[in-house]
Amino acid sequence: MQPNTQSFIPVRPATPAALPQAEQLRQQIGQEISLEGMVYRVRQMRGFAFVLLRAGNQVFQCIYQPEEAAFPLSLLEEEASVRCRVLVRQDPRSRAGFELVLRQCQRLGGPAEPLPVNISGKELNLSPETMLDLRPLTARRLEQQAIFRIQAALCQGIRQFLQQQGFVEIHSPKLTAAGAEGGANLFSLEYFGQTAYLAQSPQFYKQAMVGVFQRVYEIGPVFRAERHNTSRHLNEYTSVDLELGFLRHYSQLMELETALLQSTFSTLRQTCPEELSLLQVRLPEISQIPALSFAQAKALLAREAGISRPESLDLEPQEEKLLCQIAAQQTGCEFVFVTGYPSAKRPFYAMETPGQSEFTESFDLLFRGLEITTGGQRIHEYQAQVEKMERLGLDPAQFGSYLAAHRYGLPPHGGLGLGLERLTARLLELPNLRQASLFPRDVHRLQP
Ligand code: AMO
Repeated sequence: MQPNTQSFIPVRPATPAALPQAEQLRQQIGQEISLEGMVYRVRQMRGFAFVLLRAGNQVFQCIYQPEEAAFPLSLLEEEASVRCRVLVRQDPRSRAGFELVLRQCQRLGGPAEPLPVNISGKELNLSPETMLDLRPLTARRLEQQAIFRIQAALCQGIRQFLQQQGFVEIHSPKLTAAGAEGGANLFSLEYFGQTAYLAQSPQFYKQAMVGVFQRVYEIGPVFRAERHNTSRHLNEYTSVDLELGFLRHYSQLMELETALLQSTFSTLRQTCPEELSLLQVRLPEISQIPALSFAQAKALLAREAGISRPESLDLEPQEEKLLCQIAAQQTGCEFVFVTGYPSAKRPFYAMETPGQSEFTESFDLLFRGLEITTGGQRIHEYQAQVEKMERLGLDPAQFGSYLAAHRYGLPPHGGLGLGLERLTARLLELPNLRQASLFPRDVHRLQP
C-alpha cells in the first residue's frame, strides 16, 4: 500500500524575524522596511508628531507627517501594537544618522480602556504597591524591563559558567512530603488525601543527584511561609542551588562561588550594556572575596561598631549591614564570606566541624549589607546522618526517601543556595526585594 502523505502538512524549521536594532537600520537607509512594536509615546508637534515605538529592548523614534502617512495619527494610540512600513531616511541632524518616517500602519491590538498611568513619562510617581498591582503595565517601562533583563542575564551567566564546569541542570519536584530546611515556614496543601508541602529548597534532591551526576544545579522557585513582611523576604523566591561531589573542604565552594560571580558579572557586562547604563549599575569587580569566621565577625563588630551580642548564634540584619561596611572599608570588596556558623542555627544535614561540634563546615556570603548565599559541606555517611537526626530529636523514619541516597552511598559533597532576587536587588541597589521579583508573593500579595 502506498503511504498516504496527503493529509500531513510539513512543518519546516523557521525562526521569527530578528528584532530590529539601530545598527541594522543604519544599513537600510533609503529603504522602506517593516517595523513591529508597541506605541510607547506620541508627542504631537506643530504639523507632525514624534511616535516612540517599543520593540524588544529598544525604543525607536518615528516621525508621523500627514503628507507622508497613509493612515490617521489616531491609529497610534499608546500601548497599541502596530506593524508599520517606515522609510529609513538619512538625517545628519539626528544622532542615529537617520529618521524613521511612518508610511503605513496596521493596528494589531490595543488597550481596551484608557491607561491608568502614563508609563513612558519621566517619573511614574506611583507607590510601590500600585507599581506591583499594575505590573503587567508598569513592567513595560524601560527601567523596569531592564531589571528583569539583567536578572535573565544573571541566570544565563550562571548557567553558562556551571555548565562549563560540568554541572548538570536538574528540575526537582516542588510538591514534597517533608520540609528540607527545618523550621515552621512550610506551606502545606491537601494532596489526594495526604498532606504535601511546597518545597522550601531543592536540598534533598540536589544531594541525591550528587550520587548520580556528581555536579548538579537548579534555578527554580522555592516557598517559605515566612509570616514577617520585610524588605528582605518573599514567600516564593528563585533559588540558585548547586551541589558539588568529592568536596575536600567547604572553602572550595567559596572559591567556586567567587569564580561564578566573577564570570556571571562578566557575561552581564557583555550582554546588557544598555540596561546597566540605564540603571547606572555599579558592577563590582571581583578578584577575591574576603572571608572571616563567625567568631571573628562578632569580635570585629564589637571592636569596630560597639555591637556585642556574644550569646547570639546568628547575625542580625543590622550586623550584616555593618559587617559589609567594615569589610568594604578595610578590603575594598563589597562581598564578604562569614564561615563556621554555629551548629544550632544550621539544618540537620550540615557537617559539623571535626573536634568542634558546636560549629559547622558552612558559610554565608553577604553582599552590600545582605546575606545572599548559604552553603556548606553536608553529612554524606548514612550512619552519621542518622545519628545527628536522632541527636536533634528528629525521627529518621520520617526522612526515609532522603536517607535512601545516603544508604546507598554518597561521595563527600557540599553546595550552596543563592537567592536570585537578593542578588539582583543588591546588585541594582533596589531597597526592596519585591522590586526584583516580577510578581512577588508576600503575606499580603497573591496577585497579580
Ligand atoms: P537558606 O535557607 O539560607 O539556605 O537560603 C539560601 C538563600 O536563599 C535566599 N533566601 C530568601 N530570599 C528571599 N526570600 C526569602 N524568604 C528567603 N530565604 C532565603 C537567601 C539565602 O541566603 N538549602 C540551603 C542552601 C544550601 O545550603 O545549599 C538553603 O536554602 O539569599
